[in-house]
Amino acid sequence: MKIKPFLTEQFFSLYEFTATHMLASSDCETTTVAELLNLSGGSLEDFGSLKLGYTESQGHPEYRRLVSETYENVSVDDVVILTSPVEGIYLTMQTLLEPGDEVVALSPAYDALHHVADHLCGKFQAWDLVPTEAGWKIDLEQLKSLVNSKTKLIIVNFPHNPSGFQPTIGDFEQLIEVARANDCWLFCDEIYRGLETEFKGKPAIPSAADIYDKAIVLNGLSKTYGLPGLRAGWLVIRDKQIREELIGWKHYTTICPAAPTEYLAIQALSVGEKLAERSRTLVQSNLVACTEFMQRQRPLFQWRPPTAGSTALVEIDFAHLAKRSTETFDNATDYCHHLAKNYGVLLLPGACLGCEDKFVRIGLGRAGFQTALAAWEATLPTAAVPLAN
Ligand SMILES: Cc1ncc(COP(=O)(O)O)c(C=O)c1O
Repeated sequence: MKIKPFLTEQFFSLYEFTATHMLASSDCETTTVAELLNLSGGSLEDFGSLKLGYTESQGHPEYRRLVSETYENVSVDDVVILTSPVEGIYLTMQTLLEPGDEVVALSPAYDALHHVADHLCGKFQAWDLVPTEAGWKIDLEQLKSLVNSKTKLIIVNFPHNPSGFQPTIGDFEQLIEVARANDCWLFCDEIYRGLETEFKGKPAIPSAADIYDKAIVLNGLSKTYGLPGLRAGWLVIRDKQIREELIGWKHYTTICPAAPTEYLAIQALSVGEKLAERSRTLVQSNLVACTEFMQRQRPLFQWRPPTAGSTALVEIDFAHLAKRSTETFDNATDYCHHLAKNYGVLLLPGACLGCEDKFVRIGLGRAGFQTALAAWEATLPTAAVPLAN
């Protein structure tokens, strides 16, 4: 049986490294090795003297210690270092799921969060994020109707890619209670943690790892910390048996983390707050520009401003777009290919992530965002294109 295609990666592989105007990415602006070491007080000379032998399968103890300190209630032993964040999704699903198991997953979602579980389990059910006029919300009643004592695993991602939604603390605690009441595992992907539009010194909701024993939490340095090329990620697993079984799966994928990545990840975590603050500042200023753009363009787009993360979903009114463009589109996928091929403007079709094909994902974390937004706006003449008789 074949796994479903990873549509986001397939789409990116067509344009990611050639499009001039990147508006689709979920990661925040990155840095160079030299800049990172400069910030952390490390030196290129020390980095150069690193030996390139095998490393510890569970990860370097200092790396795990720095990770554990980003939680309230997590020990060094609870942390498993990965060779990339996405690897943690594969390893967790392989460890937990068997044919016949029931899984409930927040939808839409980053492709891997759905497809690996769907491929392995017996019954996969989507728990739909609900669009409202003002934003997005979760429907806890729907969750309660989907989860029962046969549910093995609930999969969520907060802050959420692609919508930029994050629940209130009250709703998050209720979600955990649903998992607890049904004694199921909760996979909480927190890779955008710390990116909040109104950040007040610490994330507004706790990490699931700190408040639920059966939570498995994914995080890494790709998004909030702007270092996707490091391929640095980790899982927090407080259950010893599951952790050991997962490391057993890891022996079949990557065995151990890459030594240069571990070295640089330790440097990055030692200045993690500075890197995260840099990303937040950029996302916040890009969000202001994006909100103004959406207001100028009303009613072409319906805008639901994100409250956290580095992405948002834009809903397109295709009837209105037909009046503003010389070409007609009836779905977001065709529109995204058109913008990428003809204008070098890259937006991600929401359909890649399981959205209705009238949404595009916009990424708010890059330095060139405002120039790219202007390039998109230039493709939308302000006066309506006269309709042909
Ligand atoms: C929600 C979520 N989880 C995990 C990942 C995987 O991160 P990486 O590509 O750095 O492995 C991504 C990447 O887009 C993501 O959006």
